[in-house]
Amino acid sequence: MGAKKQPKFAVIGTGSMAAAMMATFARADVQVTAVVSRDWQRSSRFASAFAIRDAADDLNSVLRGDPCDAVYIANASADHASMAIAAMEAGKAVMCEKPLALTPGDAERVADVSWRTGTLCMEGLWIPFLPAYRRLLELARANTCGAPVHLFADFGYPVSENAIPRLFSPTAGGVLLDRGVYLVALALDLFGPVESVDAQLNVTAQGLDQHASMQLRHRGGGQSQLAVSFTALMSNTASLACTAGLLRLEEPLVGTEALSIRHIGTSAVAVPELDRPLSAKQKLVRALRQRPILRRLRRAMPNARREHLLYGADPYLPQLHHFLALLEAGAKESDMVPLELSLNIQHVIERARAGQKR
Ligand SMILES: NC(=O)c1ccc[n+]([C@@H]2O[C@H](COP(=O)([O-])OP(=O)(O)OC[C@H]3O[C@@H](n4cnc5c(N)ncnc54)[C@H](OP(=O)(O)O)[C@@H]3O)[C@@H](O)[C@H]2O)c1
Repeated sequence: MGAKKQPKFAVIGTGSMAAAMMATFARADVQVTAVVSRDWQRSSRFASAFAIRDAADDLNSVLRGDPCDAVYIANASADHASMAIAAMEAGKAVMCEKPLALTPGDAERVADVSWRTGTLCMEGLWIPFLPAYRRLLELARANTCGAPVHLFADFGYPVSENAIPRLFSPTAGGVLLDRGVYLVALALDLFGPVESVDAQLNVTAQGLDQHASMQLRHRGGGQSQLAVSFTALMSNTASLACTAGLLRLEEPLVGTEALSIRHIGTSAVAVPELDRPLSAKQKLVRALRQRPILRRLRRAMPNARREHLLYGADPYLPQLHHFLALLEAGAKESDMVPLELSLNIQHVIERARAGQKR
């Protein structure tokens, strides 16, 4: 039996994410046949660095002349939608970095082309493919800690414009589109469609949100409290409060490899009656609680079981394996990150912003 023939990719963009994904492509034995930049010298340098055959400064020439099966889009977020549409119209499957687009209207245009042409297009959200994230969904759906009620999740690391200039450019779309997409995806995966969105945004002089919190009420009754920031260090965890316990994806949420599971008993707590003397056990517990060293010891002891669910050498590989399996199966859409999810994320973010402008 011959070796499995992997699909060929063209890469759009020559920045840090495109470079990171080149290592992922190599791990999956995927050949990249062309790279596209707005600037031919940049694409040539990238092509030399990663031994890519063709460098181009025009996507259309690649779409016409290259035998690639799929396009990976990792240029500025403002250009994702137009590139995805051009690639799909040329019959190429698309794996597009998040966000799929900067507006719901553009995201809908992308989805419409995918659905009309039957061409696979998936937003590269990547964290839903991590084993710890999959396990959280599995345990939540099985009501392992009782029924899920409330999600608290945040994603925030302070960054300076010098360190990551793209985050401060209008072409990135602000913190909700750059970071919020992951949290909204998790909230939608857990609780389904959203009924109402309340948000608070800190916005730069250029109108870009850089710190935001959102409260979502889901139609099915769950609630999600989400916060994202370019300016503050947050806990970078996701806690799912359930009726009989708590599930928590540990830091760093975006790249998580640990899930904590805490059950609590639901039996009634025994309250000592005032007119009845304390039992020996109650006296002992009271005496122990009065010792600071013992309270400290108790707090240092783990109160939850922790599962370590490692993604291996490369966090982006599970997502790429999923996309390759879809290509091999001739699938028209991802069942894990369907375009409907991408559209719903865009609509939630749009509503958060619209509420601010009222
Ligand atoms: N999945 C993840 O974990 C992850 C992490 C980081 C970023 N991302 C996403 O990946 C994409 C690229 O991010 P990156 O960190 O690689 O960005 P980057 O290094 O700043 O730039 C990527 C590309 O964007 C283009 N670009 C940069 N500034 C531009 C501007 N002002 N106007 C138009 N195009 C511009 C450039 O393309 P040319 O070569 O054509 O000039 C550059 O090659 C973004 O959409 C981001 O959201 C995803």
